[in-house]
Amino acid sequence: MRISDRRQLRRDPLAHLDNLRRRSTTGLIQLPWGGWCVSDSHLAQTLLRSPEYHAGKSGFFGDLLPTRSAQVDVGHAVRNLLRAGMPHYRAALTQAVTELPTASRWPAAGTRLLFRCLTDLLLHRGTPAGTRRLLQRSAYGGVAVRAPHVWQRARAELLRAQLLAAVTEQVGHRRKHPAGEQRDVLDAVLSACPADRTSDRTAAELHLMMFRAIMSPLSTSLAWTVLLACLHHTAPTPWPWPADHVVREALRHRPVAWMVGRTLPRPVDFGGIVLSPGVLLSISPYLLHHDEHLWSAPEAFRPERWATKRGHGPYIPFGMGPFICAGAAVAHTLLTESLTALCDNARLTVTGGDPRAVMAESTVPRPFTLHRFLRPLTTTRQRGGDNP
Ligand code: HEM
Repeated sequence: MRISDRRQLRRDPLAHLDNLRRRSTTGLIQLPWGGWCVSDSHLAQTLLRSPEYHAGKSGFFGDLLPTRSAQVDVGHAVRNLLRAGMPHYRAALTQAVTELPTASRWPAAGTRLLFRCLTDLLLHRGTPAGTRRLLQRSAYGGVAVRAPHVWQRARAELLRAQLLAAVTEQVGHRRKHPAGEQRDVLDAVLSACPADRTSDRTAAELHLMMFRAIMSPLSTSLAWTVLLACLHHTAPTPWPWPADHVVREALRHRPVAWMVGRTLPRPVDFGGIVLSPGVLLSISPYLLHHDEHLWSAPEAFRPERWATKRGHGPYIPFGMGPFICAGAAVAHTLLTESLTALCDNARLTVTGGDPRAVMAESTVPRPFTLHRFLRPLTTTRQRGGDNP
């Protein structure tokens, strides 16, 4: 890798990815950290839809579950639980936003806001206080959302092990004393994982996995959404877009999952490059969302583009095809509700905001300060739709 490439990768990883695509003549790019990414948008979509690449289990759950149908059951059970918990989330949000200080440091403040509103849905109030405290420490301490520094990640590993032990104990308790109703994500996981097929420990690991699958992309996406909207609307007037369009555009412009992967079931020839079976091939939602042949002005952050159906290319912030995110619709609703609550009778501005991403396991915004000033007289409540 050239020194100039390495520098650009550090400074602006997404711009570097754009450059690699421009240079590619095969529809495939070799990633700087190893592996391959499909840069041709049509090929990428064909791959994501093809039954051939989705014959077995999805890689998302690793080896925790024995079959694809068991994976689907867990995803659906957790999604349904969140959907049913939406009124609770809304009520908690109203309170949490009221208590947000005028200036808050993001993305950490977004993680705290979301966790506060989701905490009872992740582990209900009847769960031992020590276990709930561990969940909170995990949410803020780098278990739910990957911490930026190595020392923080080492501490997070310790926390993760403690949380896993506590939740495993809780699984044993709940299996001995079933509640008869689903009160939280752990109950939802248990409803999809009978004790004769899933050990207590595996059920706890699935709960942890879903805790991260919920918290990490939601808090990062919420941070991108407020940051991008504030950077693009600096006038003191309310935003001219519905919250739903702002969320959609933020998920397009800065999709947090910048790569989704599929394992090749057989050798495949891409313009002369032959990849062997077993190779993990990546598809980049970011590249598909910024294909200038398929989107009009893809580089511009323009929530108003969602007011029409024209000029839209492939939109895959939640993936696509048989392995698409189980929580896509509910995640979109949670984000729209969160943004609506933040904007309610308030003006949002940012300082220290930078639209360049930091390179991590997902596309993370650099830290910035959000200022939230209350508007005493007008009501600017903006409501969006329910579907991504
Ligand atoms: C903004 C929030 C979210 C984003 C951007 C996001 C994105 C994604 C992406 C890109 C994938 C991989 C899809 C693929 O490989 O094609 C995925 C998988 C998954 N997500 Fe999400 N997700 C979000 C929130 C959630 C929530 C709230 C849930 C809770 C139900 C959830 C549950 C899952 C599950 C279970 C899978 C694995 C699907 C499977 O393999 O069957 N996600 N998500």
